[in-house]
Amino acid sequence: MSPAPAPSSPVDLVVRGGTVVNADWQGAADVLVGGGKVLGVVEPGAYRAAQPPGVTEISAAGRLVLPGGVDPHCHVGFTSGDFTSLDDYRQATTAAVFGGTTTIVDFAIPRPGEHPADVAAAQRAKAAQGLCDSALHACVVEWDNTVPEQLRSLTADGIVTVKMFTTYRGETMADEKTILNVMTTLRDLGGMVVIHCEADHIISDVQERGEAADAISACHHAGTRPELAENASVAEILAIAESVAAPVYFVHQSTPEAVDLVARARGRGVRAFTETVAHHLVLDDTAYAGPHPERFVCCPPLRGADTVAGLRSRVLMGQVATVGSDHCCYDTAQKESVSHDVRAMPNGLPGVETRMPVIFSELVVKGGLPVGRFVELMSANPARLNGLYPRKGVIAPGADADLAIWDPTATRTVRSTGLHMATDYTPYEGRTVTGWPETVLVGGRPVIESGRLTDPEPRGRHLRSGPLSRSLVC
Ligand code: URP
Ligand code: ZN
Ligand code: ZN
Repeated sequence: MSPAPAPSSPVDLVVRGGTVVNADWQGAADVLVGGGKVLGVVEPGAYRAAQPPGVTEISAAGRLVLPGGVDPHCHVGFTSGDFTSLDDYRQATTAAVFGGTTTIVDFAIPRPGEHPADVAAAQRAKAAQGLCDSALHACVVEWDNTVPEQLRSLTADGIVTVKMFTTYRGETMADEKTILNVMTTLRDLGGMVVIHCEADHIISDVQERGEAADAISACHHAGTRPELAENASVAEILAIAESVAAPVYFVHQSTPEAVDLVARARGRGVRAFTETVAHHLVLDDTAYAGPHPERFVCCPPLRGADTVAGLRSRVLMGQVATVGSDHCCYDTAQKESVSHDVRAMPNGLPGVETRMPVIFSELVVKGGLPVGRFVELMSANPARLNGLYPRKGVIAPGADADLAIWDPTATRTVRSTGLHMATDYTPYEGRTVTGWPETVLVGGRPVIESGRLTDPEPRGRHLRSGPLSRSLVC
């Protein structure tokens, strides 16, 4: 709690009567906002009617006041193979704020022949179309003598995380020496590799055998990308990170074994972090036996129920740093057009809007996850691990006033028609979800009020991430 600011402080909005939840503290408090920032978190009623006229009051009685979500893994208008996902910044961030997320971290992924720094510059320019702020992960596919200078300029410009892949050969896959070189270079620049681990040679062999057995369509997807391909790749990348003493962040880990490898490495002093994504914690591979298997094709694939239970237990045990969405807004027609062959399919599920409500419902309401830990996974740690903390991810003086005023008892049935993502389906269709944002403030402006978009003006900013601290721990 901070002292009430002097009356001369330019408070323009007060969120009154709620329970403020940060990762490390929660309690009844009023939040004072001015100039787009949090000015104070004060005893209920401490800042009273002596306030000048024109101060907006928002009642948060019976509500949780959460730092707006930070989605560390969100693909906007993402091109992969022959397909481009269907949203732009305005659409993706509109969906984000409806779901309580007020910062997204997108990717600038080069096509063959493109330079990572050029792609990042083009992507960064789109941030202004957003209803909320955004940051970027760059991406390196191939090493050449221009890469060190590109990484220096990217990190100097506030893009400190670089996505790499051990799969998608011929598209974005990098070889091990390239990964080692990028890790080593970023280590000295305050940056970090964020990596998609699936051993491509294992997957391509399994897929060739699947093709020979006429088992390569969307309904076979889970079997074509086995767990051991993920686990083997995570072990290899951890060895590289440990060898060069570099930090590393594993995106969308989907198996408990992979999470355990990272946790054990952390125990040896490696700065290694696990991200899981909402669909791997909530959905399982029975989706591929349903009427629309193509809608659930993502990499890694949805896993068996035992694996999902094991992954959830790792979240509850504190071994997971962040939960992202891995949002990719393809529609059913795009996915269906090549669903006879998963190797040609656009991978990924829409989820930026549902990430926070679905995880609140499944892990907090049903699973007993403390709400402070929810904030840590959805907001504080994603901000920390992307060099955005304490500007984002916490409700404290000086932070951006991005707030999700959360009704922990609101219960809704998820329908794609009630969501705002630029696609025709949600993987959570028909699921009952408890816990939704009611009012969402972005930079001190109410953008969603009582569940309605009241300020559609795009004012998104591209965020410059600070260098990641050498003592980074989550
Ligand atoms: O299936 C997925 N995850 N698609 C998006 C690209 C990636 O691998 O993150
Ligand atoms: Zn990935
Ligand atoms: Zn992704």
